[in-house]
Order: sequence, then structure tokens, then C-alpha cells
Amino acid sequence: MEKAFEYLNHYIKNDSIIGMGSGSTIERYLPVMKNYIEKNNLDVTFLSTSLKTEKALEKLGLEVIFDAESIDVAIDGADQFTSECIAVKGGGGSLLREKQVDYFSEKIILIAHMDKKVTDFNHVPIPVEINQYLYKMTRRIIEETGASTTMRTGDEGLFVTDNGNFIIDCTYGSIDDLHALQQKLLNIPGVVETGIFDKYIEEIISFNDDAFKTLKQ
Ligand code: A5P
Repeated sequence: MEKAFEYLNHYIKNDSIIGMGSGSTIERYLPVMKNYIEKNNLDVTFLSTSLKTEKALEKLGLEVIFDAESIDVAIDGADQFTSECIAVKGGGGSLLREKQVDYFSEKIILIAHMDKKVTDFNHVPIPVEINQYLYKMTRRIIEETGASTTMRTGDEGLFVTDNGNFIIDCTYGSIDDLHALQQKLLNIPGVVETGIFDKYIEEIISFNDDAFKTLKQ
């Protein structure tokens, strides 16, 4: 993983705004990146995809802003990805801001363990963030798209996102058209965002203990 992190550092450029993702991989990357920034005396500003990442960045003494005119690069994790550079994200519950930061960015770079590579998203839980109001009814309507659903839970009952919403993990036996499915889900009132990341992803860096590979479309 260390080698993958070192490679990832070449995306950290002077005078840039970086969208920083969430999850355990990103958490482990942050101190490596901080050393690189210090060593090379870089001036970098961050947008964060979660409150947790925001706190971690600030603890490292890095500047986090709340809005920007543009984002140079987004660096993020993934739960599953394919060789076509399509990913599912949101296992940690940060999909809404991840989608905003990643999609608004000039480039999306993902980093994930090699074991997360899949051939398709059949039987893969796809997180869907929904408004709390009428959530049972929203869930029923989501099930009409063919999903088996599970309400995401946390330490104190239903999991609540940084944005005050619930998450439903949706699994499909067979997905013919992922993009069409995403549009169908987004058309349901109360659905805030899905964990389907099918915008052009510049590169996916996959790693195991000893090595890393890069995947481009
Ligand atoms: C956060 O909601 C997610 O999208 C993460 O980016 C994703 O779950 C990867 O997390 P890990 O690095 O912890 O596997």
C-alpha cells in the first residue's frame, strides 16, 4: 500500500485545490500526503467529502474550505470497481459529498484494494441516501425498481449521514443498465443520491500488500 500512496502523491500539486475522499484507505493516506506536502513545501487547499476527513485534515494542520470555484483533483476510495473504471461508493456513508466533490473535480482518482475489483454490480450493495421524511414509503418505492433493501444501521439505531439523511443499501440480482438504474433511483422523490459513480474516472489505483496497479479507461 505504501508504494501506491507514494504514486498517488504525484497528483498533489502546488497551488491546487484537492477534493479529499473518505474511508479507511484515505485515512491511512493522509499522513503520507502531509509528509509529501511538507517535504516539497507545497501550498494546497482541501475540500472534504466528510466531517471525519475534515477533522483529520485539520488535525494535520491542512486547510479545509467549504466551497470553491473549481477542484483540481479528487482523491477517493471505493467499495467496488470494474475494469471499465465504474465504481460503487458510500460504504462509509459519505456518498453525497463524495459525489459532489468527485463529480465537480477536473479529475477523479480512486484508490482501493485489488480485492474490490468486480466484473459487474449484480448482488453488490448499492448505497442510496434518502431523506428521513417518509423513509418507509421511499423504501417501498425503491423496492419497485427490483431491489432487495436493508436500512443502514449505526450504533444508535438507523445510521444518519453527515447531511442528516438515512441510507438504504440496495441489492439487485441482475443489472442490465447501471446508468438507467441510477436515473430511475434519482427520479424517486426523497432519494438524495446514489453510490453509483459512473462519470469518467481518470484512474483507479488498486493495491495489495506488495504491489499496486493502475487502471485507466
Ligand atoms: C465512504 O462513504 C466510501 O465511499 C469510501 O470511499 C469507501 O467506502 C471506501 O472505504 P474504505 O477505504 O474504508 O474501504
